[in-house]
Amino acid sequence: MSDEVKYGLAGVIADDTAISKVMPEINSLTYRGYKVQDLAAACRFEETAYLIWHGELPNATQLAAFNDREKQERGLSDNLIQLMKMMNRKAHPMDTLRTAVSFFGQEDDTTDDSSPEGLMAKAVRMYAKIPQIVATDFRLRHGKAPIAPDPSLGFSENFFHMCFGEVPAAEIIKCFDISMTLYAEHSFNASTFTARTIASSTSDIYSAVTGAIGSLKGPLHGGANEAVMHMLAEVGEPENAKAWMLDALATKKKIMGFGHRVYRSGDSRVPTMTEAFEKMVEIMDSDEARQYWKMSRILDDTMVAEKNIYPNLDFPAGPAYYLMGFDIPMFTPIFVVSRITGWTAHVMEHLASNKLIRPLSNYTGSEQRDVPALSKR
Ligand code: COA
Repeated sequence: MSDEVKYGLAGVIADDTAISKVMPEINSLTYRGYKVQDLAAACRFEETAYLIWHGELPNATQLAAFNDREKQERGLSDNLIQLMKMMNRKAHPMDTLRTAVSFFGQEDDTTDDSSPEGLMAKAVRMYAKIPQIVATDFRLRHGKAPIAPDPSLGFSENFFHMCFGEVPAAEIIKCFDISMTLYAEHSFNASTFTARTIASSTSDIYSAVTGAIGSLKGPLHGGANEAVMHMLAEVGEPENAKAWMLDALATKKKIMGFGHRVYRSGDSRVPTMTEAFEKMVEIMDSDEARQYWKMSRILDDTMVAEKNIYPNLDFPAGPAYYLMGFDIPMFTPIFVVSRITGWTAHVMEHLASNKLIRPLSNYTGSEQRDVPALSKR
């Protein structure tokens, strides 16, 4: 270990950004200056998406035009749907999504147009099409026919329609929409930095997003929302929760949905998402839902009391998605449905004053030496 190396780039400020600000000292996250919890309460996800890309919230006319544009971009090619039908049904949906995004990038004749307008067009295209890819994969994995988007429906309503063939109560849509806003952007996390790194070589935006999807899949990053639900299933019932956590800590297990590289005293998005999870428990009004809620409270209290490590957004988001009817492997793809806004905003920001990302390394291998002849090795 060298004192000069910032392992995991921890503490390194790698570039400027005007998109979001993480303030662990006051436990706050802002998008373009607005607190995420205020955006989640007052705005629909479509408004947040516009804000992330354009820097300002839309007025009613701008919002209507933006939503029209998104609706026009909805729809997948027959080839892509065919391809998805041919894909391995046992593959993780993040692998399917990564392949599908790569495919429609390859279908787009304007892939290499990285002008500001070209980048924005492709960002909106991915924002409009990714929900259908995720929903189509969900239905195919469950042996059901894909459902086409409905242009009369808003972003979140349309997603439920494409997954389940119906739109749930407005309160459920609101819980989902809140999660979309909270997941949209989070400065230089691993997947966003991956997207910026790929973009910095002046590759195309689809390549940047394809790489970002690969990065997000890992359980130390976006994959944690799925892992949380597996953990709750393993715990089984509230009576087991404290002992389960104490045992996991004693055996030095990483507890999914807890801890954060930047936040050390709580993730600013958690209270809002926990309220949404609690709302889902109230709406579902089932013993199963109440069990998940109780288990999660005990796990949270025990982890904080024992280790002073707080839950991150994935901790309440995982069970909330489960109660909305989504299956567990779909949770991280749902994260992508939202984070596509942040990733693409970062690609656009990076390319506006591009500098190739190319750090140095601390070499720890052999000293320089001569190549011996084959007969002498
Ligand atoms: N469970 C148990 N211990 C944890 C922990 C967790 N979820 N998160 C951190 N710790 C402990 C580490 O074991 C370490 O203890 P040590 O100093 O005794 O070795 C200490 O806290 C520091 O953790 P470290 O892993 O060095 O922090 P990091 O900044 O590298 O890691 C995460 C941040 C997010 C990767 C890490 O907290 C984690 O793996 N969390 C679980 C996965 C998750 O929820 N990811 C989603 C993030 S939004």
